[in-house]
Amino acid sequence: MKKKLFAAAVLAGLAGGASAQGTVNVICSVQADWCNMISTVYARTTGVKINLALKGSGEALAQLIAEKDNPKTDVWFGGTGDPHLQAAEMGLTLEYKSPSLPQLYPWAQQQAQQSGYKTVGVYSGPLGFGYNTELLKKKKLDVPKSWADLLKPAYKGDIQVANPASSGTAYTMIATLVQLMGEDKAFDYLKGLHKNVGQYTRSGTGPIKAVARGETAVSISFVHDAPQEKMQGFPVETVTPSEGTGAEIGSMSIIKGARNLEQAKKFYEWALTPQAQTFGAAAKQYQLPSNKATAVDANVPDFKKIKLINYDYAKYGASAERRRLIARWEKDVNSLPR
Ligand code: F6P
Repeated sequence: MKKKLFAAAVLAGLAGGASAQGTVNVICSVQADWCNMISTVYARTTGVKINLALKGSGEALAQLIAEKDNPKTDVWFGGTGDPHLQAAEMGLTLEYKSPSLPQLYPWAQQQAQQSGYKTVGVYSGPLGFGYNTELLKKKKLDVPKSWADLLKPAYKGDIQVANPASSGTAYTMIATLVQLMGEDKAFDYLKGLHKNVGQYTRSGTGPIKAVARGETAVSISFVHDAPQEKMQGFPVETVTPSEGTGAEIGSMSIIKGARNLEQAKKFYEWALTPQAQTFGAAAKQYQLPSNKATAVDANVPDFKKIKLINYDYAKYGASAERRRLIARWEKDVNSLPR
């Protein structure tokens, strides 16, 4: 009898434990290796299962808009900050003031404040160019050093960048150029660039991977996405444009109406810890982590050596502005023949 009761108690405990452990549904907008690592480690250490959906920043926002009335996502992890700010403004994400905020760099805290605490910075990284050293040599092309260089006819068909409707990287490029040149000049520039672009990819990391494989000579990419290609033996280097460049504040948000809200908060807190933030570099992704106590890998770009613009995150993360600039790019640039 005692034995039976004990077995029943163990079973009940297991069942109770399993349901108490739970699930969290995460849209993950960094590269797959990092998403998978987070999900495996989190499940092993907490018993909580992460259901992952991998989506670029623009696509993630589109999904959240589509499921607004019946959210299936609990947390949106990573991806450029502008669409996270847009999601906040559109009321898609939940106000949550993390007790860890004081541990974060000012830029990550500012992202939270600007959104009314509906998002937070988890990493940052500068925009630049990737290039294939062997291909440039073979084609007798110079290393492009400036935005202006990319317009040279010699690069025709040999530049890749993502499509800003799906990719936060590409939207960061448009917003950066508008801030550097003024809007009309930036769009003239984008029209000129269009003539040299061989392909607009869906994902922001597509172009640097194409550079690595020798499919294109030059990409417009986040600098932190290049070292992993180089480590695999590909002849990839990066440069940041001499006129100046923008940086992303990769962000994280809890979804309004999340079905697993308590689990969402626990995951969010975990993702802001120095320990969790080391998994980026462990997965060979070298953004600067937002927690000041996170060890910074030697491959993380040195921001002090880069000419950075004072990117206006509030303005370019505003819903109407982001929508307007992407629509203008579709109409004035992408519709043109190449
Ligand atoms: O995961 C690499 C990365 O460059 C992130 O730093 C960035 O937030 C994300 O990709 C942007 O991806 P996409 O341009 O596809 O939205």
